[in-house]
Amino acid sequence: MDNPALDLKRYIRGIPDFPKPGILFYDISTLLRDADAWQIATARIARAVAAWQPDILAGIESRGFLMAAPLATRLGLGLVMLRKPGKLPGETVTLNYDLEYGSDSLQIQADAIKPGQRVVVVDDLLATGGTLAASISLLRKVGAEVVGASMVIELSFLGGRSRLDVPVHTLLTYD
Ligand code: PRP
Ligand code: MG
Repeated sequence: MDNPALDLKRYIRGIPDFPKPGILFYDISTLLRDADAWQIATARIARAVAAWQPDILAGIESRGFLMAAPLATRLGLGLVMLRKPGKLPGETVTLNYDLEYGSDSLQIQADAIKPGQRVVVVDDLLATGGTLAASISLLRKVGAEVVGASMVIELSFLGGRSRLDVPVHTLLTYD
Protein backbone atom coordinates (compact mmCIF):
# COMPACT_ATOMS: atom_id res chain seq x y z
CA MET A 1 0.00 0.00 0.00
CA ASP A 2 3.03 2.31 -0.04
CA ASN A 3 2.89 5.21 -2.46
CA PRO A 4 6.58 5.91 -3.16
CA ALA A 5 5.72 9.50 -4.15
CA LEU A 6 4.29 10.24 -0.71
CA ASP A 7 6.56 12.69 1.14
CA LEU A 8 6.22 11.82 4.83
CA LYS A 9 7.75 15.17 5.81
CA ARG A 10 4.28 16.57 5.14
CA TYR A 11 3.20 14.83 8.35
CA ILE A 12 5.98 16.21 10.57
CA ARG A 13 5.72 19.71 11.99
CA GLY A 14 8.43 21.85 13.51
CA ILE A 15 7.35 23.62 16.69
CA PRO A 16 9.58 26.58 17.64
CA ASP A 17 10.90 27.17 21.16
CA PHE A 18 10.04 23.74 22.59
CA PRO A 19 11.04 22.50 25.11
CA LYS A 20 13.32 25.55 25.47
CA PRO A 21 13.69 28.88 23.63
CA GLY A 22 15.73 28.50 20.44
CA ILE A 23 14.98 24.80 19.90
CA LEU A 24 12.86 23.80 16.89
CA PHE A 25 11.09 20.61 17.97
CA TYR A 26 10.30 18.12 15.17
CA ASP A 27 7.03 16.53 16.27
CA ILE A 28 6.03 13.03 15.15
CA SER A 29 2.58 13.33 16.77
CA THR A 30 1.01 14.44 13.49
CA LEU A 31 2.50 11.44 11.65
CA LEU A 32 1.24 8.99 14.30
CA ARG A 33 -2.24 10.51 14.12
CA ASP A 34 -2.54 9.66 10.45
CA ALA A 35 -3.23 5.94 9.98
CA ASP A 36 -1.82 5.75 6.44
CA ALA A 37 1.27 7.87 7.15
CA TRP A 38 2.18 5.81 10.23
CA GLN A 39 1.65 2.56 8.34
CA ILE A 40 3.78 3.74 5.41
CA ALA A 41 6.54 5.06 7.69
CA THR A 42 6.63 1.71 9.52
CA ALA A 43 6.72 -0.25 6.26
CA ARG A 44 9.60 1.82 4.86
CA ILE A 45 11.63 1.55 8.06
CA ALA A 46 10.90 -2.19 8.31
CA ARG A 47 12.51 -2.79 4.91
CA ALA A 48 15.77 -1.19 6.06
CA VAL A 49 15.76 -2.93 9.44
CA ALA A 50 15.03 -6.37 7.93
CA ALA A 51 18.18 -6.08 5.78
CA TRP A 52 20.28 -6.19 8.97
CA GLN A 53 18.68 -9.54 9.88
CA PRO A 54 18.12 -8.79 13.56
CA ASP A 55 17.07 -11.44 16.10
CA ILE A 56 15.29 -8.88 18.26
CA LEU A 57 14.59 -5.11 18.44
CA ALA A 58 15.33 -2.69 21.29
CA GLY A 59 13.08 0.36 21.73
CA ILE A 60 14.09 3.50 23.64
CA GLU A 61 11.57 5.03 26.08
CA SER A 62 9.37 6.77 25.42
CA ARG A 63 8.80 7.85 21.85
CA GLY A 64 11.05 5.08 20.55
CA PHE A 65 8.49 2.54 21.79
CA LEU A 66 5.95 4.00 19.35
CA MET A 67 8.09 2.93 16.40
CA ALA A 68 9.78 -0.15 17.87
CA ALA A 69 6.54 -1.99 18.72
CA PRO A 70 4.89 -1.83 15.27
CA LEU A 71 8.24 -2.65 13.62
CA ALA A 72 8.68 -5.72 15.82
CA THR A 73 5.22 -7.08 15.12
CA ARG A 74 5.58 -6.37 11.38
CA LEU A 75 8.94 -8.19 11.27
CA GLY A 76 7.81 -11.03 13.57
CA LEU A 77 10.45 -10.16 16.18
CA GLY A 78 10.52 -9.72 19.95
CA LEU A 79 11.11 -6.37 21.61
CA VAL A 80 13.34 -5.29 24.51
CA MET A 81 12.70 -2.05 26.39
CA LEU A 82 15.41 0.48 27.24
CA ARG A 83 13.71 2.47 30.00
CA LYS A 84 14.19 5.52 32.15
CA PRO A 85 15.42 4.61 35.66
CA GLY A 86 13.24 2.83 38.19
CA LYS A 87 10.68 1.42 35.76
CA LEU A 88 11.97 -2.10 35.13
CA PRO A 89 11.55 -4.95 37.65
CA GLY A 90 14.30 -7.43 38.49
CA GLU A 91 18.04 -7.01 38.01
CA THR A 92 18.88 -4.06 35.76
CA VAL A 93 21.96 -2.52 34.14
CA THR A 94 22.19 1.31 33.93
CA LEU A 95 23.98 3.82 31.69
CA ASN A 96 24.08 7.62 32.16
CA TYR A 97 24.27 9.98 29.17
CA ASP A 98 24.05 13.65 28.09
CA LEU A 99 21.03 14.86 26.10
CA GLU A 100 20.47 17.76 23.71
CA TYR A 101 18.84 19.45 26.70
CA GLY A 102 20.03 17.97 30.02
CA SER A 103 21.19 14.50 31.04
CA ASP A 104 19.47 11.21 31.62
CA SER A 105 19.92 7.49 32.32
CA LEU A 106 18.67 4.35 30.65
CA GLN A 107 18.21 0.89 32.08
CA ILE A 108 17.75 -2.58 30.65
CA GLN A 109 16.91 -5.86 32.35
CA ALA A 110 20.15 -7.73 32.88
CA ASP A 111 18.78 -10.88 31.22
CA ALA A 112 17.02 -9.13 28.31
CA ILE A 113 19.43 -10.25 25.59
CA LYS A 114 20.77 -13.72 24.90
CA PRO A 115 24.57 -13.67 24.35
CA GLY A 116 25.40 -12.58 20.81
CA GLN A 117 21.84 -11.78 19.77
CA ARG A 118 21.69 -9.42 16.79
CA VAL A 119 19.88 -6.30 17.96
CA VAL A 120 18.59 -3.26 16.07
CA VAL A 121 17.93 -0.28 18.31
CA VAL A 122 14.94 1.92 17.45
CA ASP A 123 14.08 5.51 18.38
CA ASP A 124 11.97 8.29 16.93
CA LEU A 125 14.70 10.89 16.49
CA LEU A 126 18.47 11.23 16.18
CA ALA A 127 19.65 14.62 17.49
CA THR A 128 23.06 14.77 19.24
CA GLY A 129 23.25 10.97 19.23
CA GLY A 130 23.77 10.85 23.01
CA THR A 131 20.73 8.68 23.62
CA LEU A 132 21.62 6.28 20.81
CA ALA A 133 25.30 6.02 21.79
CA ALA A 134 24.28 5.25 25.38
CA SER A 135 21.72 2.70 24.22
CA ILE A 136 24.30 0.92 22.08
CA SER A 137 26.77 0.81 25.00
CA LEU A 138 24.07 -0.47 27.32
CA LEU A 139 23.03 -3.21 24.88
CA ARG A 140 26.67 -4.28 24.48
CA LYS A 141 27.06 -4.41 28.27
CA VAL A 142 24.38 -7.09 28.39
CA GLY A 143 25.89 -9.11 25.53
CA ALA A 144 24.14 -7.80 22.42
CA GLU A 145 25.65 -7.55 18.96
CA VAL A 146 24.17 -4.23 17.83
CA VAL A 147 23.77 -4.55 14.04
CA GLY A 148 22.00 -1.28 13.31
CA ALA A 149 20.13 1.78 14.56
CA SER A 150 16.89 3.09 13.08
CA MET A 151 15.14 6.41 13.63
CA VAL A 152 12.28 8.22 11.89
CA ILE A 153 13.95 11.66 11.97
CA GLU A 154 17.60 12.74 11.80
CA LEU A 155 18.69 16.28 12.64
CA SER A 156 21.84 15.99 10.57
CA PHE A 157 23.13 19.47 11.50
CA LEU A 158 23.75 18.15 15.04
CA GLY A 159 26.13 15.46 13.79
CA GLY A 160 24.72 12.64 15.93
CA ARG A 161 25.45 10.01 13.30
CA SER A 162 29.22 10.51 13.71
CA ARG A 163 28.95 9.38 17.36
CA LEU A 164 27.56 5.98 16.36
CA ASP A 165 29.71 3.01 15.36
CA VAL A 166 26.89 0.93 13.86
CA PRO A 167 25.03 1.23 10.54
CA VAL A 168 22.33 3.92 10.82
CA HIS A 169 19.07 4.28 8.88
CA THR A 170 16.87 7.35 9.19
CA LEU A 171 13.70 7.96 7.20
CA LEU A 172 13.56 11.76 7.14
CA THR A 173 16.58 14.07 7.36
CA TYR A 174 16.57 17.75 8.30
CA ASP A 175 19.76 19.76 7.63
C1 PRP B 1 14.30 12.62 22.63
C2 PRP B 1 14.08 11.76 21.40
C3 PRP B 1 15.30 10.87 21.40
C4 PRP B 1 16.38 11.77 21.98
C5 PRP B 1 17.26 12.32 20.89
O1 PRP B 1 13.91 11.87 23.77
O2 PRP B 1 12.88 10.99 21.54
O3 PRP B 1 15.12 9.75 22.24
O4 PRP B 1 15.69 12.86 22.65
O5 PRP B 1 18.22 13.20 21.42
P1 PRP B 1 19.78 12.96 21.33
O6 PRP B 1 20.11 12.35 20.00
O7 PRP B 1 20.34 14.35 21.47
O8 PRP B 1 20.15 12.08 22.48
P2 PRP B 1 13.54 12.49 25.19
O9 PRP B 1 14.44 11.89 26.20
O10 PRP B 1 13.52 13.99 25.08
O11 PRP B 1 12.07 12.11 25.53
P3 PRP B 1 10.92 11.06 25.16
O12 PRP B 1 10.66 10.34 26.44
O13 PRP B 1 9.76 11.92 24.73
O14 PRP B 1 11.33 10.12 24.07
MG1 MG C 1 13.24 9.78 23.29
